[in-house]
Amino acid sequence: MRVVSLIAQMQSAALRWKKSGARVGFVPTMGYLHAGHISLVKRARQAVGPKGRVVVSIYVNPTQFGPEEDFTKYPRDLKRDLRLCREAGADVVFTPTDAAMYPGKSEDHYSTYVVEETLSLGMEGSSRPTHFRGVTTVVAKLFNCVLPDVAVFGAKDWQQAAVIQRMTADLNFPIKIIVAPTLRERDGLAMSSRNKYLNAVQRAQATILSECLSEARKLVKHAPQSAARLTRKLAECVAAKSEARVDYIHFFDGETLVPAKTARPGTHMALAVFFGKTRLIDNGRL
Ligand code: PAJ
Repeated sequence: MRVVSLIAQMQSAALRWKKSGARVGFVPTMGYLHAGHISLVKRARQAVGPKGRVVVSIYVNPTQFGPEEDFTKYPRDLKRDLRLCREAGADVVFTPTDAAMYPGKSEDHYSTYVVEETLSLGMEGSSRPTHFRGVTTVVAKLFNCVLPDVAVFGAKDWQQAAVIQRMTADLNFPIKIIVAPTLRERDGLAMSSRNKYLNAVQRAQATILSECLSEARKLVKHAPQSAARLTRKLAECVAAKSEARVDYIHFFDGETLVPAKTARPGTHMALAVFFGKTRLIDNGRL
């Protein structure tokens, strides 16, 4: 496995592979890898086959963090990440620098952004207004560095996957997007690099996100529910946890992300909950 930091070197490796007929699979990450990330690496390998090449990028992208968010504190452990990538069968780990991705601190040297204007507006987009602009910009840039045939994203970030699928289609990137299932801890908590921020009490209470999903599934199985009423009911369950504070609970169509007035089996649900300054998200089909 090779570690490549230079963009030009990454691009020429990808062009060489393509010339030799190898397919390129890509998993973009911000590092501090867990089993959820690794499942995407394995999915990429499955998609490109043993002769293909799998690239994992590790880049904590400053433009997708809000001014009050955890960019500087975001957990980093490159040595461990590289070991996990090697064990998972990655061929290259791409670790571009901030200076190469966003030259110059002012807009003198960087002034182009990719903005998706529909799917990115609600949910994560309302809570984190500049977030998706940063995500689409960096993912478009990473696509142009890695030149993949296939890129794998996690269903854990459902709205992100939808926004990236739309961007890929709208900008005609010749890339197949695969969305792979959410990996969870034994007690149901969706794996996330941010789980590390939780103290013991918060960690114990964090199962409330997946419990809300199970509870909603149980209720809609019985009968369709008013989304507003169900939201209130679930918000009460979250409020019963001393450390938890609801950011949002949403019901919507899983494809179009259009809000649903009625929640029924097949409706998609997403929620975000704060534990102190740590914000956790989860989602699933009811
Ligand atoms: P990051 O949070 O590191 O996640 C990288 C990828 O792993 C994303 O596609 C995310 O959905 C997926 N992932 C995270 N937790 C998962 C879990 N429990 N099960 C399955 N997949 C999971 O998402 C980002 O980074 C960034 O926004 C990025 C796309 C890299 C752009 O900077």
